[in-house]
Order: sequence, then structure tokens, then C-alpha cells
Amino acid sequence: MAKQTVKDLDVNGKRVLVRVDFNVPIKEGKITNDNRIQAALPTINYLIDNGAKVILLSHLGKINHKDEEKTEADKKKNNMAPVASRLAELVNCKVTFVNETRGAILEEAIANMNNGEIILVQNTRYEKGESKNDSELGEYWAKLGDLFVSDAFGSVHRAHASTVGIATHLPSACGFLVEKEIENLSAAIDNPKRPLIAILGGAKVSDKIAVIENLLKIADKVIIGGGMAYTFLYAKGYNVGTSLLEADKVELAKEFMERGKDKLVLPVDTVVANDFSNPTEIKTVNSNEIPDGFMGLDIGEKTIELFKKELEGAKTVVWNGPMGVFEDPRFAKGTEEVCKILANLDGAMTVIGGGDSAAAAIQLGFADKFTHISTGGGASLEYMEGKELPGIAIIQEKK
Ligand code: 3PG
Repeated sequence: MAKQTVKDLDVNGKRVLVRVDFNVPIKEGKITNDNRIQAALPTINYLIDNGAKVILLSHLGKINHKDEEKTEADKKKNNMAPVASRLAELVNCKVTFVNETRGAILEEAIANMNNGEIILVQNTRYEKGESKNDSELGEYWAKLGDLFVSDAFGSVHRAHASTVGIATHLPSACGFLVEKEIENLSAAIDNPKRPLIAILGGAKVSDKIAVIENLLKIADKVIIGGGMAYTFLYAKGYNVGTSLLEADKVELAKEFMERGKDKLVLPVDTVVANDFSNPTEIKTVNSNEIPDGFMGLDIGEKTIELFKKELEGAKTVVWNGPMGVFEDPRFAKGTEEVCKILANLDGAMTVIGGGDSAAAAIQLGFADKFTHISTGGGASLEYMEGKELPGIAIIQEKK
């Protein structure tokens, strides 16, 4: 890639500020999925092996800074301490957790570091200025280090003080995770082997407008499933019962169908239920025969066959968004079958966007079956939308 990578930096003896994305799910103080910590290890271990002093910065969750009571509750909930404990189990060096985001304690801890040690700083979003890319904050953090490495792929779509601000003041490079993510996404989106087929799902059309627009331009087929398909079916004039419908996006769905013509592939049947959380009747019906009082919760068998046929011969597949409510085994089949189809595609590059589709692929046991599963939900979506990612744009070019 054109950007500097961590291998282009002389890190020995240097204080290296590394923005990682340790925004991991935590329940009752326990990390329930440490994928993102694992994904950052190649860069962290490289820096440790090469004698750097590694200072890790990450956000965790969201902090409300408008209401003091909420700020305190959010801080308590999104404390980095459990992340530090997990990290210490995964690396072979000293890990110090500093329960501060600025000030004498943090500065002293950094001053006392030996080469090959790690400091994990408290949640960057404890600072009000983080999400606003406050210039004083970015400059302050930059002064704590000699070099900056961006390895938080999940956060590179955010122009925050820790992702962009610091990088404006220090020599910078991408870490191995960011390098791998960009290589794969770029091969699939910017320079795909054809045919390129996109599969889009998830609940809402409104979340996917920009990605549908871009993929209708660059992909050979765009397959639509998940909750957002019902707005398209409604736009075709079908009854969708109590299925998820975005009434204000019906005209847009019509426009996409006109623009996309045969390129756009919609479900031909759907698994419906008479209730979302406590269904007593579940059946599969044609897409144009959804009865009143029933909601679509997954794609049906005929649709799975149709999607399989459309995917035959694909050389590149990008997928963002599940086909149904996969968290409930009764409505997971569509998403699982799409996983199987992709896993068995011969010689195709398969790239799964982060967020729900990545969670589905991993939960359903397909973690190793794809070319690449992104660690970034919003970031991979914005890449597929064709947008510039500020946390990467700011990194220095290779000399
Ligand atoms: C994510 O989980 O997608 C990233 O960590 C970004 O988090 P954010 O949406 O809170 O910025």
C-alpha cells in the first residue's frame, strides 16, 4: 500500500503511540469476545520484539458528556481495566494499565517505561474532546510519544483526536491489521476480479443507502436480503404484513430498482411469523403473499436457491448485513446458508463486512471459511460506500 507501515518506522527505544480498537463487548466485567484484541497482537508483538515502548490508546463504548450523572455511569460501564487484564494474558511482556487519560500519573508512567513494555491508557472517550478531534487534546497526546501507529481499523472512519489529531503531529504509519484490512477491501472493491457480487442485508435501507448507491455502480449483481428487503418488496406493490417497512424510503427503493434493473436481486420467498419474540405460527410464503399480521424474519428456501444460482461463478463477493434475525435459530437459516454458499465458492475472494454479518459468520461457525472478515462495522461499510477513511488518509505516504 502507498501508506507507510509499521515496518517503515525505526521503533527501537521509541515511545510508540498505537491507536487500537479495543471496543470489545463486556458483560458484568467480562469480555465476551476478544477478537479485536487478538487482531491487534501482530502489531503489538512486532513493536515489543523491536524494542519499542508501546502506549496503547482506544475508545470503549460511548460516553455521554452532556449530563454529568450519565457521564459517570458511562465511565463506570466503559472502564478499560478488563481489557488490560485480557491483554496481559495474551502478550509476553509487562502491561501497565493507567487509569487516566492525561496528567502527571500518565506522564510519569510513560517516563518510567522500559523498552518492550506496554502501557494501556484509560478509555480515550473519557475525554470530552476526543470525539470532536479537539486540537489541544490531539497535541497533548502526541507529546507523550515519538511515533504514531494507526491499527484501529474499526475506528478509522472516525476523525477523532486519537485517530486523526495525534497523527497530524507525529511521524505515522499503519499497523498490520489496518494494512491487511485495506489490502483485502481494496482488492474486493477497487480492483475486483469479476464478476463482483454484493450481498446486502440488515434491518434498514436508511443505513445502507450510500453502499447500495456505490455497489450498484461497481458490482455486477447486488443481492438484497434481511429486514431492508421488505421496503423493496413494498415498493414493488406487495403486501408486507407487519414486516419492517421504512415508508419514507419506498420511493428511493423504487429508484434503486429502476436504476439497478436485473442487477438488483430480491427475495422471492420469506419466512414469516405472527409475532417477533413469541411466535406461535411460522411458515414460508412467496414474497408477494405475506399475509396480514405476519412479519418476514428470514429469507426462504427458494430465495436461498436463487441467491446460490446468482453467486455461481462469482470471483469476488462482498457481504454486509445478515439475511434474517440470525440471533434466533428459527430465523438463522438464510444467513447460515449464505455462509455455506460463500464458503463453497471455488476460487472466489469472499470479504465480509464487520458488525452484524461478521458476528453472524463467526457465531454460525464460519470464521475460517472466508478470505477476510473485517473487524470494522462502520469502517468497512464506509469503505464499501467509496468514502475516504480519515484515520487512514492522515497517515504518511511511503517515502
Ligand atoms: C465499532 O465498534 O464499530 C468501532 O469501535 C467504532 O465505534 P463507534 O461507532 O462508537 O465510533
